Amino acid sequence: MNSQERIRQLLEFREKARKGGGEDRIDTQHSKGKLTARERLTLLLDEGSFEEYDMFVTHRTEDFGLADKKYLSDGVITGHGTIDGRVVYVFAQDFTVFGGSLSETFAQKICKIMDQAMQVGAPVIGINDSGGARIQEGVRSLAGYAEIFERNILASGVIPQISAVFGPCAGGAVYSPALTDFILMSRKSSYMFVTGPKVARAVTGEDISIDDLGGADVHATKSGVAHFTVDDEVEGLELIRKLLGFMPQNNLEEPPQIECDDPIYRLEDELNDIIPDNPAQPYDVKDIITRVVDYHDFLEVHGAYAKNIVVGFARFDGMPVGIVANQPAWLAGVLDIEASRKAARFVRFCDAFNIPVITFVDVPGFLPGSAQEYGGIIIHGAKLMFAYGEANVPKITVTLRKSYGGAHCVMSSKQLRSDVNYAWPTAEIAVMGPQGAIEILDGKTINEITDPEKRKDYVLKKEQEYRAKFANPYEAAKYGYLDDVIEPRNTRFRIIRALRTLSTKKDPGLMKKHGNIPL
Ligand code: HXC
Repeated sequence: MNSQERIRQLLEFREKARKGGGEDRIDTQHSKGKLTARERLTLLLDEGSFEEYDMFVTHRTEDFGLADKKYLSDGVITGHGTIDGRVVYVFAQDFTVFGGSLSETFAQKICKIMDQAMQVGAPVIGINDSGGARIQEGVRSLAGYAEIFERNILASGVIPQISAVFGPCAGGAVYSPALTDFILMSRKSSYMFVTGPKVARAVTGEDISIDDLGGADVHATKSGVAHFTVDDEVEGLELIRKLLGFMPQNNLEEPPQIECDDPIYRLEDELNDIIPDNPAQPYDVKDIITRVVDYHDFLEVHGAYAKNIVVGFARFDGMPVGIVANQPAWLAGVLDIEASRKAARFVRFCDAFNIPVITFVDVPGFLPGSAQEYGGIIIHGAKLMFAYGEANVPKITVTLRKSYGGAHCVMSSKQLRSDVNYAWPTAEIAVMGPQGAIEILDGKTINEITDPEKRKDYVLKKEQEYRAKFANPYEAAKYGYLDDVIEPRNTRFRIIRALRTLSTKKDPGLMKKHGNIPL
């Protein structure tokens, strides 16, 4: 073969590899409203930036008639490229080849890019669309999965890992996305479960559809497995690009700061009146968040799950931050099991990747009752406490209204080593709300008053006394538990100035292998 023929052969091989499982299977993929693995990577990465590895890899299985059934790339496309000019490593499972099922060589391809990503210090984005373990490969496939899981674990806290699920993701295969930092699912085409509907029916008798068991909406609202859901893949890939913009390349770098034309002194007069006079009246904390962050741009994470707490990313003067806020518009912003887990995970992500945490507090306490106690609210609440107390990134807390009891301590209080704690004049920091406190302190006296009018007046008087004493920020400020009481409309500037000051914060912590977070 002369050199021209060799080049022609190379181009033919490449062309063949790009066809994956063949035109028919690509058509089938499209007919399901899904893109192919290569189309997905083209949309995800900067134009022309994709460098593919291992295009010529094929499986090594001879059994089950597979000796003659080989496809270049073997069902997964791997390599690296850039997103907004920053290097990322990627893999995209190709459903057109053996249903995207995972073989030994398929796993080796993923492990190769994960290893290099950890050495280079660049994020890994995985696109999942697979029938799971390649049945014909048996235990070699299982070993391949475990090799990937171990790398997910080693990479955790070193490089950001993001998973998109755009098709099936079942059985033990779910554990690779589960070990990554963020999971995004597309509605209609994706599902995740450890055991599918057929097994569920056989084992427990439960009759349930694929979507009701493991569809995107179920995981976004009920299990909390999915951080994001999207209507289509194009939207999902765009969202991943945006999400990455808030993260550093690895744990040794700072998150990327961008130019900001939004004035740092922007006063938001409406904030001075946004807290209702009636303490029982709700408001939407996102109206506060969007008023203070750059360009009113807030990327909410886990938006459909545990809505009583809001978490997400934004920027202040171009600096990425993580935001955690109690949401009075949902269950009065109470802390429960789901909210505690959701916020704890988010705070730990931010801390692992040097992203400052801004906390807006309006919390009436922990949700009472047997369902919460039996579900382990003690342990789950402790998770959030641990996450905040351990985090050594800059931490800024703004108490908007209620901050009661244990929930006060948990929500980035001064004693959990929060750096700067502000409160609005509407803040109420106390062991509990006035009604509960009076019930305990004066219950007996109240019950002895037989005249309903007199009883009402007495309760009102006691509530006023309690409010005057505790339902304000000054009692806490008096002890230095707050650094300042600020005018609400000035919140943006105060946060930016605190962030600038804290940008050189150093707090290496104590030497230990790792803490023992209450899991
Ligand atoms: C080998 C597979 C495969 C698999 C699909 N294919 N899954 N080949 N191993 N796991 C092949 C099919 O034979 C078919 O080949 C092609 O991929 C497309 O599959 P279809 O069934 O035609 O597609 P569709 O109707 O869209 O159904 C998709 C599906 C179904 C729901 C994913 O294929 C399916 O149920 N697959 C098996 C899922 C499964 O049980 N996996 C094991 C899970 S346990 P041809 O040549 O006919 O087109 C597991 C353990 C992991 O993964 C443990 C990790 C620790």
